[in-house]
Amino acid sequence: MTAGAQELLRLAREVAVEAGELAARLRREGVEVQNTKSSPIDIVTAADRAAEDLIRARLAAARPADGFLGEESGAGTGTSGITWVVDPIDGTVNYLYDLPNWSVSIAAVEGDPDPETWRALAGAVAAPALGEVFTASAGGGAHLGDRVLQVRPPAELDRALLSTGFHYTHAIRGNQARVAGELIPLVRDLRRTGGAAIDLASVAAGRLDAFFEQGLNPWDQAAGGLLVTEAGGVVTGLAGAAPANRMVIAGHPAVVRELDGLLQRLGA
Ligand code: IPD
Ligand code: CA
Ligand code: CA
Repeated sequence: MTAGAQELLRLAREVAVEAGELAARLRREGVEVQNTKSSPIDIVTAADRAAEDLIRARLAAARPADGFLGEESGAGTGTSGITWVVDPIDGTVNYLYDLPNWSVSIAAVEGDPDPETWRALAGAVAAPALGEVFTASAGGGAHLGDRVLQVRPPAELDRALLSTGFHYTHAIRGNQARVAGELIPLVRDLRRTGGAAIDLASVAAGRLDAFFEQGLNPWDQAAGGLLVTEAGGVVTGLAGAAPANRMVIAGHPAVVRELDGLLQRLGA
């Protein structure tokens, strides 16, 4: 791990933990839906905005030349070539319902903040309600606290535990549900945990064999994707394409190869 990546990781972790503490406190005080975005079930709470404001301010104070891409406040260009890609609360619906699977996801990437081309340098996924902080840096491995993370060894698909997510748009959900219905007799089981960042962290931690989802945005996968690759896995799209909004598949390379083929056959 380069000194630069180490410094970015230290900052990502510190700010993710602080924003997680803020969101957890606001959760205890009560949560209401403040607005909706892409569809009536795609919600924003005051905590999403407060957490992103805190993250943006802390990162700008520490590294004023860096760019920023956040789910709630959009993009700001920088001059350093590094952009912070931020989901202030991933798993907002879980957060609203007080289910523990939500996280703050912060990554530093080099190049355009586009999962097809960026090089992720550092990432942190802080899950306060689980009491867990996952971190990774380019070349420095992936960690849960002090534990070094490693993806599970390859499993046949009929013994593989998968996780996926469903889009906020009903038209896309219909096809995702059809694919899930055809997939489920072919695998050990299929989870829908409600947080893509924790799903990716779970793949890195060996708690899932693989994860796939259509419709992810850069902030859903920036930190989690680095966790997976630093834990010895791969993150791809369909037919070996780069991960993108169209599809993200993550896991051990052999499992991802099999799952990619199956998802193509099922018309995912
Ligand atoms: C969502 C969660 C969910 C996934 C959606 C994401 P949000 O993020 O990660 O698990 O299925 O695609 O948009 O809206 O809670 O930040
Ligand atoms: Ca998200
Ligand atoms: Ca979010």
